[in-house]
Amino acid sequence: MVFGSLDYAAWTDVMAVNTIAPVKMAEAFVEHLAAGRRKTIVNITSEMGSLANNTDGRHYLYRTSKAALNAATRSLAIDLADRGIIAVAVCPGWVRTDMGGPDAPLSPEESVAAIRALIEKLTPEHSGKFLSHDGTGISW
Ligand SMILES: NC(=O)c1ccc[n+]([C@@H]2O[C@H](COP(=O)([O-])OP(=O)(O)OC[C@H]3O[C@@H](n4cnc5c(N)ncnc54)[C@H](OP(=O)(O)O)[C@@H]3O)[C@@H](O)[C@H]2O)c1
Repeated sequence: MVFGSLDYAAWTDVMAVNTIAPVKMAEAFVEHLAAGRRKTIVNITSEMGSLANNTDGRHYLYRTSKAALNAATRSLAIDLADRGIIAVAVCPGWVRTDMGGPDAPLSPEESVAAIRALIEKLTPEHSGKFLSHDGTGISW
């Protein structure tokens, strides 16, 4: 989908699934999180949502949905900090899924294992950050 023939109904759907749904999940489960031991929200984002790293344009629907998710994650981190809840935006890397395709360097197992290891290490200092699967910070 390129500039000049954007599908605005599809854009609305992508925002609903990628941006609004994760925030709605946080609202729905915040009391459970607050009562739990590992109070962590991990929103699966994408480096495609980075404004700083967008050097080749296009991908309006996906980029904006993930940039908006990143912005929402930052607000969750601030708003829920006093309840001891950590919120991070994590890019899984380029992964060999239906979306990532066969040329991606990471298997789903490798990506998930790295994200699980990252979650184990998260502290309140990480909250509000935009991280890659290996814990590297990504520019907004
Ligand atoms: N793969 C990558 O390289 C890569 C890179 C950066 C970020 N990500 C992010 O990682 C996450 C997982 O991506 P993936 O690579 O696993 O993608 P994928 O292979 O395309 O799988 C997407 C999954 O989302 C489900 N889904 C799609 N629309 C849905 C909806 N409206 N309601 C409920 N479920 C829905 C699909 O369900 P069905 O199977 O039932 O259709 C499928 O299980 C996504 O947030 C993606 O943006 C992926």
